[in-house]
Amino acid sequence: MKIAITGTPGTGKTSVAKELKKDGYNVIETAEICKNFEIGYDYARKSKIVDEEKMDEYIKSIDENGILFIEGHISHLLSVDAVIILRCNPEELKKRLMKKNWEEKKIMENVEAEALDIILEKAIKKHDKIWEIDTTDKDAKTIAKKIEKLINDMPPSSYGNVDWSKWLVENAGQI
Ligand SMILES: Nc1ncnc2c1ncn2[C@@H]1O[C@H](COP(=O)(O)OP(=O)(O)O)[C@@H](O)[C@H]1O
Ligand SMILES: [Mg+2]
Repeated sequence: MKIAITGTPGTGKTSVAKELKKDGYNVIETAEICKNFEIGYDYARKSKIVDEEKMDEYIKSIDENGILFIEGHISHLLSVDAVIILRCNPEELKKRLMKKNWEEKKIMENVEAEALDIILEKAIKKHDKIWEIDTTDKDAKTIAKKIEKLINDMPPSSYGNVDWSKWLVENAGQI
């Protein structure tokens, strides 16, 4: 079974993936494999352009009998059996992204995307099995344990409970 771990940059995907690896799980990081599928560079957005179809063909070609996590902010676009979306309160996300020393514009673009549920909206279009986890007050180890429980128990989808609209109202006009 292939499970995507996605979320806006800064929500803690890579930190959680590290914990899952420590616990013995197989994890593919899209940031690692994307170099094999690069088709250009977007100078305005300062990001690599990846051939998502080719990347998906590769993911499809993997014959997985156990659990394979695919971590990255485009992993919900891939052919996976379930999607875990990490969420983070926009104020806290801003702090996490500032630690990455990103420029203000890029930070605000991502904080806004988180506040507007952009990844959830895209994931819903492609997948039935989706779980959201609010990471705001949880450390990576706790989140990894939550993920391990999800894949063991396979509960019904749970999403839509995260709601950053209050932040949006308070910050309207500033983003
Ligand atoms: N659960 C968490 N609580 C607090 N800070 C976190 C958490 N997860 C990650 N961070 C911090 O936030 C920043 C971004 O984490 P990272 O795992 O790189 O996110 P992503 O891979 O989603 O972009 C890092 O500085 C990391 O130490
Ligand atoms: Mg990362």
